[in-house]
Amino acid sequence: MRNAQNAKCRTMNDMLDPDKITANLRTNRIGRKILVYDSTSSTNDVAAEYARNKENDGLVVFAEEQTAGRGRAGNKWLSGRADSILCSIVLREDSIGLAENKLSTELLSLTIAVAVAEAIGKAGRSRAKIKWPNDIMLNGKKVAGILLESKSLPISDSGMPVSKSKVCVVGIGINCHQKKESFTAELKRIATSIDAESHSISDRILLARRLLSSVDHWLEVAANNSEKVIDRWHELSIQLGHRVTLIFNGAKFTGHCVGIDPERGLILQLDTGGIRMFDAAHSTIAN
Ligand code: BTN
Repeated sequence: MRNAQNAKCRTMNDMLDPDKITANLRTNRIGRKILVYDSTSSTNDVAAEYARNKENDGLVVFAEEQTAGRGRAGNKWLSGRADSILCSIVLREDSIGLAENKLSTELLSLTIAVAVAEAIGKAGRSRAKIKWPNDIMLNGKKVAGILLESKSLPISDSGMPVSKSKVCVVGIGINCHQKKESFTAELKRIATSIDAESHSISDRILLARRLLSSVDHWLEVAANNSEKVIDRWHELSIQLGHRVTLIFNGAKFTGHCVGIDPERGLILQLDTGGIRMFDAAHSTIAN
């Protein structure tokens, strides 16, 4: 593990290095502490451990490699060594406003999706867009995923557990250097990387810095004016104005996507008539 104090030089230009990520990083909360692991099971697990300490709000754990990376719905998240941004951000309940009911988990999820799409920006002619609930797409293929995990954890003070607090770990995986041919036949249809879309080689240090700045910025926007997050989400959505089919609690629904409700999820004008909202926890997009 490396931190800002004991960072080691790496052979490749964009090997993740806390000092390089921190240089010129202008954030209020996110990335005040940055840790980089060469290899770990899942950065979400490491971040959850650090989240026990109340000092660690905004801490970010990066890894060059995960041996048990996970995605939504029990899926695995696979990536080759030093190919991606694999990171997890610790957010404490009091800092993200959940305690005051300012920022619900649903709104947090939309906010992070906007922040990740904004950080990726454009690759070649394609702009990163959001596929609800948490997929970030380039050119119609998935380039990044987000895994939000909330836990009630004992909070320690000077090493002694003193109370319990709900913390959120925001796990983000962004495909950077994967080549088109490195994806399996099945994945090739649905997944891509920044390099594959831009036909150039991205710089993960710059991207990591942009990501932390963007998350910091959009969390602040969400806490002060959630409408701005919703507006930007609408602009970046690939589903708004299109037909969507989803499975909700085992039943299939098809309709025209007319918007997002920050608390209740995707809003569909159903083919069968009527408007209905679908929350992310119980829905799977089928198209
Ligand atoms: C998804 O789209 O299913 C979410 C994928 C989230 C992957 C990231 S990689 C860093 C962090 N650690 C994990 O084990 N998962 C998240």
